Amino acid sequence: MKNYTSIHDIDNINSWIEEAKALKENPLKFKKLGKNKTLGLLFFNSSLRTRLSTQKAALNLGMDPIVMNVSGDAWGIEFGDGTIMNGNTAEHIKEAAAVVSQYCDIIAVRAFPTLTDKEKDESEHVLNSFKKYASVPIVNMESATGHPLQGLTDAITISEQANVSKPKVVLSWAPHVKALPHAVANSFVQAMQKMDVDFVIANPEGYDLNPEITVNTTITHNQEEAFKDADFVYVKNWSSYSDYGKILNTDPNWMVTKDKIGDAKFMHCLPVRRNVVVEDAVLDSDSSLVIQQANNRTYAAQLVLKKILENL
Ligand code: CP
Repeated sequence: MKNYTSIHDIDNINSWIEEAKALKENPLKFKKLGKNKTLGLLFFNSSLRTRLSTQKAALNLGMDPIVMNVSGDAWGIEFGDGTIMNGNTAEHIKEAAAVVSQYCDIIAVRAFPTLTDKEKDESEHVLNSFKKYASVPIVNMESATGHPLQGLTDAITISEQANVSKPKVVLSWAPHVKALPHAVANSFVQAMQKMDVDFVIANPEGYDLNPEITVNTTITHNQEEAFKDADFVYVKNWSSYSDYGKILNTDPNWMVTKDKIGDAKFMHCLPVRRNVVVEDAVLDSDSSLVIQQANNRTYAAQLVLKKILENL
């Protein structure tokens, strides 16, 4: 594999899941694979899990990770072609990506959407500019429209925790005080489409995700109906896609409660706002898988890095 920028880069999700589980059993088995190889992690936005788990994955493979908070610490990067750079940006992506490629064997990038310019966000201008101008493989650590390390993690977690061969999985929108990206939800949808699950999305009207992504997937605006007989309830807020980036609904009745989900297992990518998105009683119960999910971030990242290292 050259790059990992989308769930579509997974050729066979079941074999990837099995390989990730094997890495989890023996995380240091390939400690020599990444010897003398450097992973550069570039963050345009905040992170706890992605930052630490991807470094941990690199260390497990014997790689040397180096990390930079690009937005805070680097020169402002210009992405436009032919721009007269007499504004706030001091360095063009053409030079920046080429320079970082000399220091790193793999570059991982986190760059969130604007949520104001749909066309720009859907062009994935930051991620695709790195792909275009870097001379080494690129890993997506959450871009404008996707979070494929999280989507792979969630597929691994569902496979580990399922008690039936074809579980019912519900992705439910929940309220939030801020306008959030669609990336986690998009990649979760794409991961579930590759798995043998009974999959339903529940969201209020006005919050349907990009129809090109949810194609052939059941969408309901009735959360109670969706939760019936669910084995897994994955909860996430996202802003409106049709009224791009807007908050149209803050109805607390969409918050997830223990009463609503019954015996279903609860999933969330974290960070999560307690008693806004989901009540304490769920997060503090044995039904919550959020800590196990976060642990699996390491093995998802390790599998992706391993596949790229094997192809260098
Ligand atoms: N789930 C996730 O990507 O967490 P961070 O934003 O903390 O990396």
